[in-house]
Amino acid sequence: MDTDDELMARALGLARHGWGTTNPNPMVGALIVEAGEVVAEGWHAKDGGPHAERAALTALGRRPRPGATMVVTLEPCSTAGRTGACCDAIKAAGIARVVIGATDPNPAHAGRGARVLREAGIDVTDGVRAAECAELNLIFNHWITTGRPLIAAKIATTRDGFSRPAPGEDRWITGGVARADVHRWRRLFPAIATGAGTVAADDPALTRRWTDEATGEAREDCGVRFVFDSQLRTAAGPSEGWPRVYADRWCERTVVVAGAAADLDTERRLTEAGVRVWRQETTRGARGWAEFASRCAAERISGVYLEGGAELLADARSAGAATYGFWYRAPREAGAGWGGRVDWRLAEPVEERLGDDTLTRGKFL
Ligand SMILES: NC(=O)c1ccc[n+]([C@@H]2O[C@H](COP(=O)([O-])OP(=O)(O)OC[C@H]3O[C@@H](n4cnc5c(N)ncnc54)[C@H](OP(=O)(O)O)[C@@H]3O)[C@@H](O)[C@H]2O)c1
Repeated sequence: MDTDDELMARALGLARHGWGTTNPNPMVGALIVEAGEVVAEGWHAKDGGPHAERAALTALGRRPRPGATMVVTLEPCSTAGRTGACCDAIKAAGIARVVIGATDPNPAHAGRGARVLREAGIDVTDGVRAAECAELNLIFNHWITTGRPLIAAKIATTRDGFSRPAPGEDRWITGGVARADVHRWRRLFPAIATGAGTVAADDPALTRRWTDEATGEAREDCGVRFVFDSQLRTAAGPSEGWPRVYADRWCERTVVVAGAAADLDTERRLTEAGVRVWRQETTRGARGWAEFASRCAAERISGVYLEGGAELLADARSAGAATYGFWYRAPREAGAGWGGRVDWRLAEPVEERLGDDTLTRGKFL
């Protein structure tokens, strides 16, 4: 018979089916166990859709047998939102025992679901693989406690911390496995952002590209793409020569964050092409980032993955706007003369080996 810990690991796997599709909601997985056998599985797939607990009950398709256990990665909700409180559904189904991973990160609700279930006479075990279950929802945890998007900075550097390839060198610093991992995180975040310098230098697509595990097919999609360009200089020329983020089939997902003095005619041409322009008093510093974050919040954009370049990242860091870092490091050394050197300090860093490269991620200290 599987232990609570093993069952929670399986529920975590189910939760990950919602990778990138549940925003601004959390990823959650749930199982129903009868006499030591897993008889139903569920996960939260989409904002507004059924929660994992209800999905598992629906998948079971009948009333759970007496003594049944539910294993769920996040504390069940106790207040009815759009889909009704999961605690009510668990009680009504006659579940005898509930095993919980992470506590609800919303301070107004934390511990309430477990209490409501206990008060109904249900046996509750909480805190199983709690850290892993909580870590899975790094975007949601920030969003629900601050009402603002998690702004995460990503950088790839050489081992000694240089992010800019020297002229004439390969533009890629890290290898294929690390670059595929970047696309995985791009898929999790509802939005990507980059600076005018990177768009001018690299003409990036800023889409998410990956290989479908089941079919082996190459896939591509696109979230919101922000370009920080106070003067709209990346769109100053004729539209035939525009960077691809203003001209490809996803150009309506591109938003240019511009300053008050940006050229009106360029704004009009972008808008006519379907690209949105967010005018701000300033695009820089604490004021600029605060305005940007509150506009994202108004559009329910719960996370922004900042892809550089160095100037944008430096401003987001010094303004205190970027609170989470993804630092990919290649084994090669650059030596001096490669522009600014990165030396991020991250709290409780998670470290992963990706081919020859290393990813270190965590909250900025
Ligand atoms: N290794 C990596 O992970 C990585 C990732 C991305 C890019 N890169 C490389 O980095 C290079 C470009 O970097 P970069 O530092 O020159 O340019 P950048 O950071 O992409 O863009 C900087 C420009 O963005 C505009 N901007 C608007 N709001 C800003 C804000 N809040 N903070 C900072 N800038 C703001 C500014 O232009 P205005 O004043 O005109 O608005 C600024 O000059 C390219 O060579 C690219 O290949 C490396």
